Amino acid sequence: MRVILPMPGNEAIAQSIARKLGVACGVVEWRRFPDEEAYIRIASDVRGAHVDVVCTLANPDPQFLSLVFLAETARELGAASIGLIAPYLAYMRQDVRFNEGEAISSLHFARLLSRYFDRVTTIDPHLHRIGSLDEIFSIPTRVVTASAPIADWIGNRIERPILIGPDQESEQWIAAIAARAQAPYVVAHKTRLGDRRVLVELPDISAWRGHTPVLIDDIVSSGGTMLSAAHQLIGAGLGKPCCVVVHALFAEGVFEALQQAASQIVSTDTVAHASNEISVAEILTSNP
Ligand code: R5P
Repeated sequence: MRVILPMPGNEAIAQSIARKLGVACGVVEWRRFPDEEAYIRIASDVRGAHVDVVCTLANPDPQFLSLVFLAETARELGAASIGLIAPYLAYMRQDVRFNEGEAISSLHFARLLSRYFDRVTTIDPHLHRIGSLDEIFSIPTRVVTASAPIADWIGNRIERPILIGPDQESEQWIAAIAARAQAPYVVAHKTRLGDRRVLVELPDISAWRGHTPVLIDDIVSSGGTMLSAAHQLIGAGLGKPCCVVVHALFAEGVFEALQQAASQIVSTDTVAHASNEISVAEILTSNP
């Protein structure tokens, strides 16, 4: 028996996953006590079941304890195994000690999750200096990419696209999306100047005038990267780009600012957001 258990706020994507798998979506009751501690109850039978907890990990700190309580409770109630389906996996970007004394949070977070779960599945984690999640997790990991549904969305909706990756790191998924969408692509160069400030320098894109610019990135957080790239494209005469993002983290006010510089903004539903248009339920449930 397999049971999908949603962490609070993940019910919609958990139900899509359960529907696609043809398995039960369990019920989790959750609330905060007046002192802000968390109350959690699994209101479904999980004895003997292979449980998958669905929890996207945008804004991870406030939900992490509840996630651990849910996993531990499922285990105490007799679940045969407990997996985590985290459409967005947080803390992957701080993967080295850039400055003396810093926490390598990707490693610590992976170790913590490995302690409470038996397996983890995620979508397009931000792997930069780490080659594979297996380097930091001690449990089996499964990585799924949203490249196919993004490429199909672009192929169906955008006339004569030119795909633009805002930095060197984006080449890994831009190339895959471009191949499937049969579209050309270029990759810009980014220098990070601080948590929110970046400088994006485009290559010569004059040959692509008359195409529709489509900016693609895995994460929009402070928006510095997307905004800088969009402004460069406008300055280069290509017009406002269509901005496509896998994980729509969007810090406060960023979506509104980007709307001024983009023709449209589209994201996958790994993180619930007004811009969600591309579903990941299919890729999460298809066989590897
Ligand atoms: C980093 O290299 C990622 O691929 C994204 O470009 C980055 O995380 C976006 O962050 P922000 O929106 O804060 O510029």
